[in-house]
Order: sequence, then structure tokens, then C-alpha cells
Amino acid sequence: MKEYPFSKGLEDVPAAESVLTYIDGQEGKLYYLGIPIEEWAENSTYEEVALSLLLRRLPTKGELKVFDAALRSSRDLPEEVIDFIYDLPPQTHPMSALRSVVSLLESYDEDARRDDLDAKFRIALRLIAKFPTIVAYFDRVRKNLDIVRPNPSLSHAENFLYMLTGKIPTKYESKVMDVALILHADHEMNASTFASMVVASTLSDMYSAIVAGIGALKGPLHGGANEAVLKMFDEIGSVDNVEKYIEESLAQKKKIMGFGHRVYKAYDPRARILKKFAEELSKESKYYEIAVKVEEYMMKKVAQKGIFPNVDFYSGIVYNALGISTDLFTPIFAISRVAGWAAHVLEYLEDNRIFRPSSIYKGELDKKYIPIDQR
Ligand code: SDX
Repeated sequence: MKEYPFSKGLEDVPAAESVLTYIDGQEGKLYYLGIPIEEWAENSTYEEVALSLLLRRLPTKGELKVFDAALRSSRDLPEEVIDFIYDLPPQTHPMSALRSVVSLLESYDEDARRDDLDAKFRIALRLIAKFPTIVAYFDRVRKNLDIVRPNPSLSHAENFLYMLTGKIPTKYESKVMDVALILHADHEMNASTFASMVVASTLSDMYSAIVAGIGALKGPLHGGANEAVLKMFDEIGSVDNVEKYIEESLAQKKKIMGFGHRVYKAYDPRARILKKFAEELSKESKYYEIAVKVEEYMMKKVAQKGIFPNVDFYSGIVYNALGISTDLFTPIFAISRVAGWAAHVLEYLEDNRIFRPSSIYKGELDKKYIPIDQR
């Protein structure tokens, strides 16, 4: 068997070919379908980004209209699934609630038993439509609030905020949420996308592939970092404690959440856009000042090592300023990234090959079995 160089964590190892997303880690640039992320954030909507990723091209006006209407009509959940949400222990982490509900949803979807790509596309659409509802319903139920049914007259981002709060969001709040969803929609071969693709490559069902993505995203080294950043700010407590906190953390080789990236060795372009929103919302936020001080001090200490703020550093401040609970930050990441997971799965399945890497065996061979009473 041909020997390949071992790269721990598959660092820099291409696992697929794709036209979806390109990241220039040295320059800090991100492109969906060749278009810079700044253009998408400025001109598009999450609905259009999601459909573009699924189609691997910009949709026509008519295609987007049909997709948007299908999203709006697919938002609600089967009553039995809503009952399940009421039965979940209120202390369940919202990412665990999302993972469990998505698993259950498969039982109510006749497309789940079909294996053609059109069926998988329809499942992707339904999950994109339902993720915000799952997260909002669970949050309302755990807080002993009545659930707020989806409002088909509202856009994806608007409706999510509406179901969370029961109030129609302002145009600015909706814009901020929509851009945040655009920024998180895809990111090439990140851990959660890879997890979804591995499951899909065995020709397992789309629900199992998406559940794998949710599980991977939950970790604090990945999507869970945005929640960890706010906890870090609470631990720091005030601007005066920033230097001491960072020095102590770095001395203990502890990672500063929201910094560093496997690919970006420059400022994450998504963090740049989210920082602007955080600044605009800073009057509502007790965290913005601490965040800017953390960034300033970290840049002095580790920028030369290619460690910069990543997408998770400012997103939590923005969501917190919108009044969203901290443990919903990673579910918001999932609400967006489900489009990227599905898009990579559909693309890979066009020319599938089951993922089966190798491992470098470090043990001995031809050893004798020792009977248990002689050990
Ligand atoms: C996301 O992959 C994606 O695209 C992910 C994502 C997406 O959109 O899908 O962009 C979303 O997950 C963003 C990352 C969110 N995670 C965090 O903010 C957690 C903190 N970050 C680190 O855990 C880390 O930077 C990773 C996990 C993001 C990347 O880790 P790597 O590539 O494995 O880097 P490493 O751990 O090998 O670190 C290399 C060096 C080490 O120092 P040395 O041992 O070489 O001296 O850099 C240091 C690390 O100690 N380092 C940090 C650091 N990140 C790296 N030191 C302090 N704080 C940090 N955050």
C-alpha cells in the first residue's frame, strides 16, 4: 500500500474537490462560489445564500421565490415533535435538544426512506426551514413561555427573532441576524462539514449526516467557541483584568476562545464584519469594551504567530446585544451552517467515494493470547 505523509487532524489534507467555498488563509479572504463574503453580506439574504450553495450557482429570481415560499411553508414541526420538545428536561443544552429533535424528525419525513438526491435536497430545505423553529420552541418551552408559531410573512432571520421573543424585530435587528446567518453558512472542509460528509459517504440518510454535523459543531474548539467567548468575558469581568487573564491563560497554554484558526493566519473576514455590528450595538453591550481590549492585547502577544480573532469572537457580543441567551449562540451557528453541511453532502454524493482514511499502526504484532487467570 502506498505510504502517505501523516498529518495529525488531517491538517492541510484535501478530503474532497468542491466549487462551494474558498478560503485564502494567508490573506484572510473568504469566497462562496467565487464571490467575496463581503459582497454576499452587503447584497444578499440568507435564503439566497442557502439556495446558491445547494444549487452551486446563483439562482434565478423565480427559483429563489419558489425556494423562499417552500421555506416559509415548511417551518413548523409535527405536533408529536413539539410534544417531544415539551418532554425534554429544561436543563438540556440547546445543541443537544437540536440534535435530538432533528433525529426524531426523520420519522415524520417520507423522503427519509428515499436515497435519490432530489429527496435529499427536499430534506435539506425542510431542515433549513425547521432549525430556527426547533431552537426557538425549545428556548420558549424551557423558559415556561408559550411557543410562538412561525409567521410566514416574515423572512428567515426576522421569523427566527420573532419566534424567540414574540415581538416583530426591527429592520436593523433583522439585518444583523440575516448577515450573521450569511457569514456562518459555509466554510469549506471544517470539522462539522467533514463529519456530515463522512456519514453521507456511506449512503446513510440525510438526517444522520446532519445530526453528525450538529454533534461536531457543538464542541468549544469549533462552533461552541462563541458561547465560550462570552463566558471568558464574564470571567475577565472588567477591562482592567484583561492583561492578567491573558497572561495567566497563555502561561498555562490555555486557548483564548475566539482566537486562532486552522486555516486563517490573518484576521477572519467574518470577524471584521461582526465587529462592526458589535460596535454599533456596543451601547447595549457590557462586553464590547472588554472584547476590544482582549483583541488589542492578543494582537500584541500572538499576531506574529498568525493568531487573530475568528468568527466566534464578536458573534456572541452581537447576539447578546440582541437579547439572545448565551447557550443559543452555537445553535444559531447551526441554523446557518445546516445549508453548508447539506450543500457539501449533495455535491460530494454526485461523485461519491466512502471516506475511509488509514491509521499508522504503533503496536506490536503476532503476540500470544494470555489466559485471564495468568495475567
Ligand atoms: C470555528 O475550521 C473552520 O473553518 C472552523 C470555523 C467554521 O466556520 O467552520 O471557522 C468555525 O470553529 C472557528 C474556531 C473557533 N474555535 C476557537 O475560537 C477556540 C480557540 N481556538 C483554538 O482552539 C485553535 O485556534 C483552533 C482549534 C481554532 C485551531 O487549532 P489548530 O489549527 O489545531 O492550532 P493549534 O491548536 O495547533 O495551535 C497552534 C499554536 C499553538 O501554540 P504552540 O503549541 O505551537 O506554541 O497556536 C496556539 C497553540 O497554543 N494557539 C492559541 C490559540 N489558538 C492556537 N493560543 C492561544 N489561544 C488560542 N485561541
